[in-house]
Amino acid sequence: MPRVRLLDSVDRQRADRVDAELVDGRDPIEIAKLRYSPIVTDSDAEKRIAAEAAAELVEDGMTIGLGTGSTVAHLLPALAARGLNDIRCVATSVATEEQARGLGVPVEEFSALERLDIAIDGTDQVTPDGWLIKGGGGAHLREKVVAAAADRFVVIADSSKPVDSLSAPVPLELFAFGLRSTLTRLGDAVALRDVPRSPDAGVIADYSGEIGDSAALAAHLEADPGVAAHGLFPPDLVSDVLIGQGNAVDRLALSR
Ligand code: 5RP
Repeated sequence: MPRVRLLDSVDRQRADRVDAELVDGRDPIEIAKLRYSPIVTDSDAEKRIAAEAAAELVEDGMTIGLGTGSTVAHLLPALAARGLNDIRCVATSVATEEQARGLGVPVEEFSALERLDIAIDGTDQVTPDGWLIKGGGGAHLREKVVAAAADRFVVIADSSKPVDSLSAPVPLELFAFGLRSTLTRLGDAVALRDVPRSPDAGVIADYSGEIGDSAALAAHLEADPGVAAHGLFPPDLVSDVLIGQGNAVDRLALSR
């Protein structure tokens, strides 16, 4: 896998941490130790460098799908910092839309665009062959619609997200209409999540049973008319996965 070195970003964060220690009035020797000890990274720094690498893929003239979550929260300032003045964006959640607008990144209704050049989003899990579980933030319906509309779907993640195989929960969005009958069909493995309805009036739930064959489970969920969306994203939807690993970004290139 190609590695994209982004040391500057992590070094900047580390310097910020050291400065915070100075404000706390710590012993100068301790501060010196912090300054010259090996770089300590955390998942937030990894999310940030993956997001910054993804922001570099955006060019003027592009239409862009913006995902949802704490990793995407790093993408938006990185995108704003590019200073592009001819991009058109759609957002997968109200939170993303509000953050983007606050940073001067233009967001419009998705009904205004036929297709997207690129979509960038986080993930909860990613396997070596590119299966994802998304929807930790309950935005998986819009996230999948946006990913499917994009020529290139780029996933950004920290090093806690790669897994050998997917494990529950798998987020679901269920139609409110006939909800009780849908839940009866889906069985005990599905429980409602205690969160507000989605922007599309769907009811957020989670499947906590065995996953086994991801494609078979995806097909099973899609076959139920009460399921509006599930959080299993197949590899053929995914173009690249950028994973912050310590102070570098690993890129997993997939077939799309
Ligand atoms: C929201 C999502 C997020 O992309 C996923 O939960 C990852 O979130 P984070 O970047 O906060 O780890 O699918 O529905």
